[in-house]
Amino acid sequence: MPPKPAAPIRPVFVNLGPRSYTVQVGSGLLAGMGAELAKKMMGTKVAVITDSNVGPLYAEQVMDSLRQGGKEPTLITVPAGEESKSLSCLDTVCGEMAAAGLDRKSFVVALGGGVIGDLGGFAASVYQRGIPYVQVPTTVLSQVDSSVGGKTGVNLKDAKNMVGTFHQPSHVFADVDTLKSLPKREWNEGFAEIIKHAAIRDASMFDVIDQVAQGKGDLVALIRRNIAIKASVVESDEFERTGTRAILNFGHTIGHAIESAAGYGKLLHGEAISMGLNAAAWLASKVSGLTSVELERIRASLAAFDLPLKLTDDITDEEILRRMKMDKKFDQGAIRFVLIKKLGEAFVSTDVHEGHIKQALEELRR
Ligand SMILES: NC(=O)c1ccc[n+]([C@@H]2O[C@H](COP(=O)([O-])OP(=O)(O)OC[C@H]3O[C@@H](n4cnc5c(N)ncnc54)[C@H](O)[C@@H]3O)[C@@H](O)[C@H]2O)c1
Repeated sequence: MPPKPAAPIRPVFVNLGPRSYTVQVGSGLLAGMGAELAKKMMGTKVAVITDSNVGPLYAEQVMDSLRQGGKEPTLITVPAGEESKSLSCLDTVCGEMAAAGLDRKSFVVALGGGVIGDLGGFAASVYQRGIPYVQVPTTVLSQVDSSVGGKTGVNLKDAKNMVGTFHQPSHVFADVDTLKSLPKREWNEGFAEIIKHAAIRDASMFDVIDQVAQGKGDLVALIRRNIAIKASVVESDEFERTGTRAILNFGHTIGHAIESAAGYGKLLHGEAISMGLNAAAWLASKVSGLTSVELERIRASLAAFDLPLKLTDDITDEEILRRMKMDKKFDQGAIRFVLIKKLGEAFVSTDVHEGHIKQALEELRR
């Protein structure tokens, strides 16, 4: 007997007209997803794309659930890690989808963290000129951030997320039970994005974040709130044209540069973003009126999840600045830098210059 799904929490509806979808959040969702998808997805053949860590833990449950819903799933497993977000891995995955006979009615289930969501979503967006996909995020980061919003893609050797598409999922199942198997470091890193959301949109979340850091608090409600924040930002600027969606980049301009300057795999994404958040919040305290108490609030929450705040000497300023200049957020030499005026209120500034960034990096070394 499959486990009985727990009482559902109200799903988050992502309202994007013809590309709208729901995000289900809660416990016991994997067991019931096949029945849900039997009602929603037309095609029979499904590629379940996962990685070598997540597959052994959850793929069978997902495959069984899909079979019970009348689908014919094929499992495609790629090596765990950021290296799988590559054009060569995309080639392998699409090849396996073709070998399994997926056609234009078929769909993809991306079962894993942000790497699998980005790779699986990208494969779905280009396979036979685009087929639907379902996100089943299994990390904190992918549940609160990457599974919603439709950004897909892979990295080039020196440039993260340089090749990709906008392709919204048809459905998202964020099952918090899967988070129980996350190693401590991967659990912690996801909270960098949650702290980012609190800083840009909802200062009241800081109290819950601190409770969860102590093993208390309502995790499902916290994750649902974060998905709702991400959804509302995406709804107001789906294709990142008006600048609203850019506020999600708070901490990311410097954070991404640190991540790639360190060499992919050395720092986890959330760890690099933690330093980026510290730098951006410090800049906000210099440029846009963030108080020192608010700055320390952000730092304390990051530290509560053992997230790094300081740069180590093996990552040089020159390399970070070089990487920053390759970033898509550099618009003809000028930086569109996200700052906050106070906790919960973000805006895009054009007043931040290279000199400010250098000072912020110095601050990360003090
Ligand atoms: N598309 C977007 O909007 C968006 C937003 C933010 C980040 N991202 C991307 O997301 C990626 C980072 O995502 P991530 O942090 O989830 O990394 P990840 O997918 O690499 O997962 C982290 C590690 O945890 C393992 N793992 C995943 N779920 C597990 C589970 N339930 N139990 C045990 N182990 C598990 C994975 O195998 C991996 O080793 C980056 O590539 C980043 O660029 C995309």
